[in-house]
Amino acid sequence: KTYNIAAIPGDGIGVDITDAASEVLNTLASSHGGFSFKFTTFDWSSKAYLERGWYMPPDWEVQLKKHDAIYFGAVGWPDVPDHISLWSMILPIRNSMNQYVNVRPTRVLKGVTAPLSQIKANPKELDWIIIRENSEGEYAGQGGTTHAHGPNAIATEVAIFTRVGIERIMRFAFETAKSRPRRKLTMVTKSNAQRHGMVLWDKVFYEVAKEYEGVVEFDKMLVDAMTVRMVNKPESMDTIVATNLHADILSDLAAALAGSIGIAPSSNLDPTRSCPSMFEPIHGSAPDIAGEGIANPIGAFWSAAEMVRWVGQGSLDKTADQLMEAIENVSERGIRTRDMGGQASTKEVTDAVCKEIEAI
Ligand code: NAI
Ligand code: MG
Repeated sequence: KTYNIAAIPGDGIGVDITDAASEVLNTLASSHGGFSFKFTTFDWSSKAYLERGWYMPPDWEVQLKKHDAIYFGAVGWPDVPDHISLWSMILPIRNSMNQYVNVRPTRVLKGVTAPLSQIKANPKELDWIIIRENSEGEYAGQGGTTHAHGPNAIATEVAIFTRVGIERIMRFAFETAKSRPRRKLTMVTKSNAQRHGMVLWDKVFYEVAKEYEGVVEFDKMLVDAMTVRMVNKPESMDTIVATNLHADILSDLAAALAGSIGIAPSSNLDPTRSCPSMFEPIHGSAPDIAGEGIANPIGAFWSAAEMVRWVGQGSLDKTADQLMEAIENVSERGIRTRDMGGQASTKEVTDAVCKEIEAI
């Protein structure tokens, strides 16, 4: 079977790591057989926008829907305001492709030890899946500005929470927690200070929780206290569900605790499978290291492994596991980029992972 992948490398290191991921995926397909990937690359980026005035063409939805999955690098470049770049690609894609779940696993990979992993507990105990609400909340894009340029400027940023949106993310989170050995779910809000939307989150959470009584252990945290618990008691959590904004922030913290933001993957899923889902590392375009060939490709490889799992619908789980094994073996051997305390380039890590895939 051939899987059609829409590749959107985007900006900065997004380009390097998308190239690296497609190399690894092709190696995986050719050495494990039975399937292949056909990549169609779209040059939708800030650079292209500066030249031609648009990121995506008018028929972008039609084009993307022709694919089994979307692989995304990163978008954002210093010459374009970040809210323009983000709202020109990644957010419209998530919204329009019904990708209402963003799954962000984090664990301490083999070979990563203190002081790189910042946690005090046994690194093996940091093993989380953050479920991010990906379609509404604080990133609903609602609000406005008056007197924009004057001394009396007023701006609102309205968070939107719907029962339907909350309920579906809670169900996904409980099902995820149920499928994992620890069967624990921690729900995060800020419902002490934010008394409308966050309170609805709490309410719907406890409603859905009733169906999982005795099956999944669950608790609730305020987001500020949550940051402390993540650092001090990583073993006390497993699956975490949070709003669009909170989970965005907590997942960067999680990645840093596990060793580097360069290793963390994410899956933007349409659980109904009516649209293609999108896979991307959680990091951005990293203009500070772009073009140097030193970006860590592990987050991109891990995202690719999650893509393999998703498109295979159960038939490629072993193949995805083998990719993860190859990544960890290479990291354990000390072939690591600088953010992980090593000296290797993106290419050296990529070549080593490809060789390892062939050897497994
Ligand atoms: P960033 O994630 O690009 O970089 C933060 C820091 O982590 C930088 O010091 C960078 O060098 C380092 N880093 C990130 N990924 C790395 C990797 N793979 N290997 C080694 N080091 C890595 O976040 P920042 O600097 O806040 O944003 C840069 C641009 O990316 C902005 O335009 C922002 O809007 C955009 N962005 C885009 C995202 C997306 O496309 N989904 C997500 C986050 C940011
Ligand atoms: Mg982020």
